[in-house]
Amino acid sequence: MAAPMIAPSILSADFARLAEEAAAVHGADWLHVDVMDAHFVPNLTLGLPVVESLLKATDIPLDCHLMIDDPGRWAPGYAEAGAHNVTIHAEATADPVAVARDIRAAGAKAGLSVKPGTPIEDYLEVLREFDTLLVMSVEPGFGGQSFMPEVLGKARTVRNLVDTGHLTLLVEIDGGINADTVHAAAEAGVDCFVAGSAVYGAEDPAAAVAALRTSAAGSSAHLLG
Ligand code: DX5
Ligand code: ZN
Repeated sequence: MAAPMIAPSILSADFARLAEEAAAVHGADWLHVDVMDAHFVPNLTLGLPVVESLLKATDIPLDCHLMIDDPGRWAPGYAEAGAHNVTIHAEATADPVAVARDIRAAGAKAGLSVKPGTPIEDYLEVLREFDTLLVMSVEPGFGGQSFMPEVLGKARTVRNLVDTGHLTLLVEIDGGINADTVHAAAEAGVDCFVAGSAVYGAEDPAAAVAALRTSAAGSSAHLLG
């Protein structure tokens, strides 16, 4: 049992001031870094060189969310660079287990993400090879979208498998998390909450992180605040 984790997404930060924006969320558990390739998703953000610079600029563990095609080719590089957790998309590879093994062999935790329309049932066996499941609660590609509560069944399914000892991983959610939606996600059994606009759109991002953590702890049966 652990306190809820909050991972601010720098997608909503000022990309010209990333070191300062990382410092602005002191107290965050992870810093979520959205890597987009303009192929897997219709947006283009940043890649390994920027992640390497960020690693030097902050002590907050990096949670790299790769919204890219061909993750088997690119994901291990993020692990080798020193990212804490490297998440790939289930929809982007035919062999997620092989990629997970390569990420872990390169020294990082391995995450699997599923888009809102992707059923989790197809991946329950595969999840044995992963450390985190990232449930997308918006269509990946952009910050500031509305939370999709219909994905919470996937979080509940995997929470149950973890609580009954069938899986060992963190359940993470990404998209539309804010003061209004964090409760529902916490009730569904989420461990780690990604929040972009709700943190970087706030006057005091570090206070927004703390407030989200307190809210999540208050609505979570399996977490101690
Ligand atoms: C969307 C990204 C998210 C995004 C979340 O594709 O994966 O991490 O930054 O932003 P908010 O919290 O604003 O929905
Ligand atoms: Zn993300």
